[in-house]
Amino acid sequence: MSVSRRSFLGAAGAAVAGGALLPKDVMAAPYILRRSLARPCTVGSENGLRGMQRAVESMIKGTDTLDAGVEAVKLVELDPNDQSVGYGGLPNAEGVVQLDASCMHGPSKRAGAVGALEGIKTPSEIVRLIMKYTNHIMLVGKDAQRFAVSYGYQVEDLLTPASREAWLHWRANLSPNDNYVDEPASERMVKYTTGTCPMMLVNTAGDISSLVSTSGLSWKIPGRVGDSGIVGAGQYTDNDVGAAGSTGLGEANIMAAGGFLTVESMRRGMHPKDAALATLKRVMTMIPARWIGANGRPTFQLQYYAVNKAGEYGAAAMTASPFAVCDEKGPRKEDCAVLFS
Ligand code: GLY
Repeated sequence: MSVSRRSFLGAAGAAVAGGALLPKDVMAAPYILRRSLARPCTVGSENGLRGMQRAVESMIKGTDTLDAGVEAVKLVELDPNDQSVGYGGLPNAEGVVQLDASCMHGPSKRAGAVGALEGIKTPSEIVRLIMKYTNHIMLVGKDAQRFAVSYGYQVEDLLTPASREAWLHWRANLSPNDNYVDEPASERMVKYTTGTCPMMLVNTAGDISSLVSTSGLSWKIPGRVGDSGIVGAGQYTDNDVGAAGSTGLGEANIMAAGGFLTVESMRRGMHPKDAALATLKRVMTMIPARWIGANGRPTFQLQYYAVNKAGEYGAAAMTASPFAVCDEKGPRKEDCAVLFS
């Protein structure tokens, strides 16, 4: 289903009220000429698709870009069947779910972040609270949880039966020399998985926000914070340029400051897709040799998703993977550009 064309064009037209351009022309106009000619768009990981149409429609009705994004990402955080984000996320090596998240709000030039947050289902709301109501940007661990509780959030067990079983299985197969009986060989040990929900949003006024939420690397060492908790890595927004975010192995992204770097490439005029590809190339120059296989390819997956102020979007990945986008054509999946085909 596509976003209502009437509401989409109506909003674009309203954004240039008093100008000479017809709505049709508005859609094609280069963003550098007029601040108010953006096409509303949201782009991010595949698992965020379900909330994107509502996010675009609510931005068209005037909802702030970050608020629209939080509502969309919350759907994923609260979904017990998504084992990469929020409730039901895969836990750390000790069986505890630890969540990272961050956000940036372009118009107000503010940011919020949490690392290793336990027991709170919707870290996207907590990073927005930090951003709105404190002078800080990042809170971690138990104190991030206490901050959330002070705003009325409940501490809950975030392990679902399925995510607990996956952890028990990993622990059983960790070593043949420990006191846990190994699972049969047919039940292969999961080495690690990553999953995350980043979302970048731009509205008709060209205002931009980004946010990202994750349970991080499964079976991680307790206390590990990945790229999603780090502004400039897991996501980044510059309201004059665009926004970018990532999924995949956070450590590889952190070293390249990938969210920031992608936005900087767009600032120099690159299309979002090319900027995302350029960041992947930079990552390959920044990682230790042990993360590169004999075939010269990375042993991990990493994706970048980007949107510019005009609402042009793109995504790129180390190897083939889909991404999600919603604009005037409606919510859909598309294929990332790839560094290694
Ligand atoms: N990109 C998610 C993580 O590595 O934690």
